[in-house]
Amino acid sequence: MANFKININGKSQNVDVDPSTPMLWVLRDHLKLVGTKYGCGVAQCGACTIHLDGTAVRSCQLTVSAVKDKEITTIEGLSENGDHPVQKAWLEHDVPQCGYCQAGQIMSASALLKRNPQPSDEEIERAMNGNICRCGTYTRIKAAIKTASDSQIA
Ligand code: FES
Ligand code: FES
Repeated sequence: MANFKININGKSQNVDVDPSTPMLWVLRDHLKLVGTKYGCGVAQCGACTIHLDGTAVRSCQLTVSAVKDKEITTIEGLSENGDHPVQKAWLEHDVPQCGYCQAGQIMSASALLKRNPQPSDEEIERAMNGNICRCGTYTRIKAAIKTASDSQIA
């Protein structure tokens, strides 16, 4: 066990955990930030996607000891009132079906638009490739990313 001070959603948090603990479990079990989901545990589904200094990463593969002083953002901290352009576009297109994969989808999409506000179809497909949706909401996800992209230049 060791003590880690980590920056999550703009707040400094202390956790006592084994250094090899994946951030997914720090978030869900220790900090009760359960919006980030467990899907596969082996970086194959994207359900656990969070931002590390603004870049989309799989929290099931990110150990707490690797975070250091970097800023973590989870779905709970993406916006104050659920009004990030990606979240608004998701509502407009009624994207979710069961919803399980959607926090990860939104975190990947928002990281994409942050680094590339006007992605091409190919760039969207490449960025979202690792986020699996068992309900097959891919068409609506793509449409919502395009809407969010347009809203950033409107
Ligand atoms: S739970 Fe992390 S990628 Fe599937
Ligand atoms: S909405 Fe059900 S898994 Fe994606």
